[in-house]
Amino acid sequence: MRFSGVRCRFLLLSIRGGMAHRGDGGSAQNGGSCDEGWRAYDPVSGIGGEGALMSASEETSGDGGISSLFSVSGKVAVVTGGSRGIGAMIASGLVRAGCRVYITARKAAECDAKAAELSAFGECVSVPSNLAGPDGIDRLMEVVGAREDRLHILVNNAGAAWGAPLEEYPLDAFDKLWNVNVKALFELTVRCLPLLRKAASVADPGRVVHIGSIDGLTIPATENYAYSTTKAGVHMLTRHLASQLARDPITVNAIAPGPFDSKMMAFVLDDPATRAEVAQRIPLGRIGEPDDVAGAVIYLSSRAGRYVTGTVIPVDGGAAFARASSGR
Ligand SMILES: NC(=O)c1ccc[n+]([C@@H]2O[C@H](COP(=O)([O-])OP(=O)(O)OC[C@H]3O[C@@H](n4cnc5c(N)ncnc54)[C@H](OP(=O)(O)O)[C@@H]3O)[C@@H](O)[C@H]2O)c1
Repeated sequence: MRFSGVRCRFLLLSIRGGMAHRGDGGSAQNGGSCDEGWRAYDPVSGIGGEGALMSASEETSGDGGISSLFSVSGKVAVVTGGSRGIGAMIASGLVRAGCRVYITARKAAECDAKAAELSAFGECVSVPSNLAGPDGIDRLMEVVGAREDRLHILVNNAGAAWGAPLEEYPLDAFDKLWNVNVKALFELTVRCLPLLRKAASVADPGRVVHIGSIDGLTIPATENYAYSTTKAGVHMLTRHLASQLARDPITVNAIAPGPFDSKMMAFVLDDPATRAEVAQRIPLGRIGEPDDVAGAVIYLSSRAGRYVTGTVIPVDGGAAFARASSGR
């Protein structure tokens, strides 16, 4: 069924009627009642105010705002672990889509080189730092805070893996992976909240995207016990933070990638025989490509994704459901 523009506008205004929204920069505390940071909509005029669901420019664009549905242009983003692999794929997508992107990694030369490479397509700033180290998050926040008064998108991508046979599995792998995959992700998200809240409105919530894994959804083929456990933790933390931050409003979602080319996956994907085996187990029959994961982050960060929160989205060619239905 198709709605005419007039009918759609009517439905939207009906939905708006009586809603109360927090304006830009509201001091986001839980509570529920209308406080100083909240304003009631005028259901008659509909348009206007920082919390409007459709901006005046969208109203006058002639296409009901559809041309800007997936736009992230002009937004500021942080992508951790953006120097290579999936983080670089995401950073590249966001830079090309018109975001100013800050990338982090421990290896300064690699991080600087990736930022220089991506700067050919837009704005990319390298901030080398060890997020699991004693002052890595301080350093990142110092640089971003000195240059930006608001942050629209945080992509918590940096992560590490560890595989070993069960009885040889080192216990300190749990500490190492917990620190990088979960604790640093949690701390950075909390530290970014003031900047995210400044950018957030009902019309365009702040966005946090965690990179989890299908290994946190289904039982992995490899013996990576601490990895699968921490990634399941990332997915749970996604839902918990989404519930806590929805009123700010900040959305929190996770992407659970299947196999993508990266240093982490080189031990499997660099060998043509095992690569073919892995691809063959994926219903869509191939390894993930940069646009697959960049597209998912852009969707979640755009107007198209503003009503999605607390989800874990597998971007895996169907690998997770195939594993689940085969009992693996
Ligand atoms: N590739 C896949 O198939 C796949 C599948 C599912 C999930 N994932 C997830 O996707 C994310 C990216 O993985 P990837 O495969 O792209 O791995 P990767 O190639 O090893 O890249 C990891 C990135 O994180 C950075 N990093 C690691 N530890 C860090 C730390 N303590 N502080 C700051 N930066 C750090 C690395 O740079 P430095 O080494 O210089 O620090 C690098 O930029 C991870 O969360 C991973 O679990 C990957």
